[in-house]
Amino acid sequence: MSEVKKMPAHVAIIMDGNGRWAEKNKVSRVTGHNQGMLAMKEIIKKADIMGIKYLTVYAFSTENWKRSQEEVGGIFSLLVKFVGSELAELSSNNVRVHILGDYTDRVPQAAVASIEKALETTRANDGLQFNIALNYGSRAEIVRAVKKIAEQVKDGSLEPEQIADEVISANLYTGDENGNIPDPDLIIRTSGEERLSNFLLWQAAYSEFAFTDSLWPDFTPEEFENIVTEFCSRNRRFGGR
Ligand code: FPP
Repeated sequence: MSEVKKMPAHVAIIMDGNGRWAEKNKVSRVTGHNQGMLAMKEIIKKADIMGIKYLTVYAFSTENWKRSQEEVGGIFSLLVKFVGSELAELSSNNVRVHILGDYTDRVPQAAVASIEKALETTRANDGLQFNIALNYGSRAEIVRAVKKIAEQVKDGSLEPEQIADEVISANLYTGDENGNIPDPDLIIRTSGEERLSNFLLWQAAYSEFAFTDSLWPDFTPEEFENIVTEFCSRNRRFGGR
């Protein structure tokens, strides 16, 4: 029997390959990230048009601090530029911005200020939920959740027997504090790498994956649409038959 194939509610993207794109095009790595930001802008628009409710992008991992000061500074300057040029349009399109990760720790003050402006300006929006994983690492997220749960047990508001999947989920960045973002249906990674790299480890338990050789700055809205369409034809069983 043919069944109605559902659009993914939540698509998450590991935007990989900006550095290789820069090398290939003989420009600086920061220029590569700038091209990556332009690609990201187009994908946000496309996801919104397609009616995807949640879009999450991996913009800066807890491991990315190991990169040169110039590159790290460049990525955060791009974030400031992105908010400066896009916030009004995003907000008028009813997009809400969320940050997954500790955006106050080590992040340059100008970027923190831009993030807080984006969070505040879009707070009441209930269209596309655009989640930026920033200073994000999934193991750190899980450790943080375990500490939060331990505190609840310690203060008597939670019994150890009550700890279940939902309790863990609620205490992740994707949980209560960001309006309970559902687990990603589809995770896309560009640039030919096929691994999760500490991204949404808990939330990816039943996610489908799509890998493409395209470097992130070359990733187009058409390719995004093709991947989502292909996803719609998959048969997901969630461990059942
Ligand atoms: C991975 O490519 C990309 C990043 C670490 C940064 C992603 C950042 C952007 C797309 C810029 C805009 C983001 C915001 C939120 C404004 P890589 O540098 O690891 O590429 P490589 O593996 O080819 O070196």
